[in-house]
Amino acid sequence: MHIVHTIAALRGALAGTRDASFVPTMGNLHEGHLALVRLAKQHPGPVVVSLFVNRLQFAPHEDFDLYPRTLQRDCDLLRQAGCNIVFAPDEAELYPTPQRFTVQPDPALADILEGEFRPGFFTGVCTVVMKLFQCVQPRLAVFGKKDYQQLMVIRRMVEQFALPITIVAGETERASDGLALSSRNAYLSTEERVRAARLSGCLRSVRVNLASGARSVAALETQALNELRDGGWVPDYVAVRSQRDLQVPSVEDLAAGCALVVLVAARIGGTRLIDNTELTLGASAG
Ligand code: PAF
Repeated sequence: MHIVHTIAALRGALAGTRDASFVPTMGNLHEGHLALVRLAKQHPGPVVVSLFVNRLQFAPHEDFDLYPRTLQRDCDLLRQAGCNIVFAPDEAELYPTPQRFTVQPDPALADILEGEFRPGFFTGVCTVVMKLFQCVQPRLAVFGKKDYQQLMVIRRMVEQFALPITIVAGETERASDGLALSSRNAYLSTEERVRAARLSGCLRSVRVNLASGARSVAALETQALNELRDGGWVPDYVAVRSQRDLQVPSVEDLAAGCALVVLVAARIGGTRLIDNTELTLGASAG
């Protein structure tokens, strides 16, 4: 496995390669990332993983400085997972001058949900992903469904800029109590970790209720928000949305049995986590 820290060294390691698969990460890897690497490995060509904590997607009050940098451990895990090239630039390499050109995603998709609570987040994500795509020039890139809105924003960016990159979605990996794996789970205290299962639990309740015929989306969201508050969480949102565009499904959408996704973001102690679950309703009779 090559470990490279500069764009020039990356290009050298990739010379003559046309079919690299790419998994962008911010490091501090866990089984969820490794599952994405295994997915990438199902495709021909070398697998490139980037490790880069992207300042542009953190607001000033967020955890940029705290975010764990675990290069050695990440490289050990990636070697075992069969990664071919690790690209771990420092900030001076990726942003040698302040990044003044940015990618502005469609506000209809990027200013809702995560974008409402983290203004500018998707501009930061799109800008770094576009730049990483230019460095790696992959044929395929893998993103996890855990960051559901991010995956959609990146898909749209790739379509709108006609980038010759296939985006592949990896399923969310979960702990045995249902908590979605996330680098930020490491911030949870023992007591918070016990309470954390409620995040996926509230998604499950909304799912079960929708599957058994409930159609008042607002009432289901309120019930889930209350469940979270009862469990010591401070929720930002629980939202039942259409998978198509992340907008609120219309009555007609619901009656037609549209594909839905339920998304949640909430804080416990100082840790903010997100999760989601997809479901497709059956069309209602008549
Ligand atoms: O999902 C992440 O870890 C980050 O948002 C990404 C895609 C690596 C961009 O920094």
